[in-house]
Amino acid sequence: MKDSLALRAVDATHRELEAEYIAANPKSAASFVAAKDSGIAGGTNRASVFYPPFPLTFVDAEAATVETADGQRLTDLLGNFTAGLFGFSPEPVQEAVRDAMARGHALGGGPNLHEAEVARRLTERFPSMELIRFTMTGTEANTYAINTALAVTGRGKILVYDGAYHGAWIHGGVAAGPLDTPYAKLTVPYGDADLIVRTIEENAEDLAAFILEPVMVNPTTYLKRVAPVAYLQRIREACSAAGCALIFDEVMTSRLSPGGAQTLVGVTPDMTTIGKYFGGGLPFGAFGGSRAWMARHDPLHPQTINSGGTFNQNALSMAAAKAVLDELWSPAQCAAHNARGDALRESINQLARQHGAPLQACGTGSLITLIWQREAVVGDINDETETHLLAISTHPAVRQLPAIFWFDMLLRHNFLAGSPRLNYLTLPTQLTDDDFQRFLSALSDFLTRHRDMLKLLAEEME
Ligand SMILES: Cc1ncc(COP(=O)(O)O)c(C=O)c1O
Repeated sequence: MKDSLALRAVDATHRELEAEYIAANPKSAASFVAAKDSGIAGGTNRASVFYPPFPLTFVDAEAATVETADGQRLTDLLGNFTAGLFGFSPEPVQEAVRDAMARGHALGGGPNLHEAEVARRLTERFPSMELIRFTMTGTEANTYAINTALAVTGRGKILVYDGAYHGAWIHGGVAAGPLDTPYAKLTVPYGDADLIVRTIEENAEDLAAFILEPVMVNPTTYLKRVAPVAYLQRIREACSAAGCALIFDEVMTSRLSPGGAQTLVGVTPDMTTIGKYFGGGLPFGAFGGSRAWMARHDPLHPQTINSGGTFNQNALSMAAAKAVLDELWSPAQCAAHNARGDALRESINQLARQHGAPLQACGTGSLITLIWQREAVVGDINDETETHLLAISTHPAVRQLPAIFWFDMLLRHNFLAGSPRLNYLTLPTQLTDDDFQRFLSALSDFLTRHRDMLKLLAEEME
């Protein structure tokens, strides 16, 4: 690939845009240096929002617009990877939080009036969560769900997809690192139903849980395309037969339907985890499941699992979540937002076809990932296939194009289009149709301006 003309063109464009970025953002650069000097390890508290040469520092925001330290106002297509689904400081959340704050937001450490209201609304929407418990983050929710399965089954192993991400310390296979919780993990590739079912059967005696997102999983591309029904049904049956918990991590995918991606496919897990946007921007997480799996969280249960967490039901997050469920995320609002995402994805794909560009928009509903290749990455959700492998090109330029697109959108069009690592559009609800039109015209401009580079890449990938 050393002699790839496409890669040379992509490298040169990347360098040019990065130089422009450095020149345009001196205050963000200075703020990153200050963060490093302050003692924050590596200058960042969250690896996923760090990128070289330095990340943008945000100083103000409203609705779907964020302002950088250097005064650029960007239309936000990222929505903090889903935690910012309702844009910045949505009014109902502000009101609820102001009210909770005024009433003593720590409330002396006892129960508060919001938590049962939030629980009732969530268990109604997610029938798989007969019983529920709150946490502060999605990572904690997944940790609790896995640990519950280990305790209830008395078994020692869990199954994960290779490359899966279930939070700061729960990764699968190639993605796992030294900070991962030392679970005894078995790893399977996404999509190979025969191998997965065989692994579950062969390990039935030891296997406590299979934790997965009910969507495509891949270490670096986050396609978030809902997995085929037949495939998930086979996994459901295998887990039931083995007596291990099927855990759906819906921290992100729950946004795809009022009852989560599980209702899109009609497959019910034993336990479900959620998080991110339900707190309207405040910390939030929850895990739940059928009584059979969750009953031991009752402190009066003879075999109670002593589960706690100082801020699990903190009044601010609970008040915010109630406002979210009542005012910002009704089933109708959820369906309408995802329909808008579907329409935008289709418009992006139409535009890519018109330009003959090596680009496709993948995902489901309001989750869109741009993949810089023409060849199809995944089949259709209604396919009867049970294996559903990903076909992402290994051409290095395909992995570098997100940075070029991100810089270009930022510098020329004032859009925050994912990150330099991944053009991942997790659309906030506050984006207007006008914002979508402006984005499509910016994309068209990008495809025109970089036509030669993209043509070279398309030819080399054929
Ligand atoms: C699928 C999935 N699970 C779990 C998490 C962890 O959530 P949190 O960052 O709130 O701990 C994330 C966060 O990105 C996620 O995408």
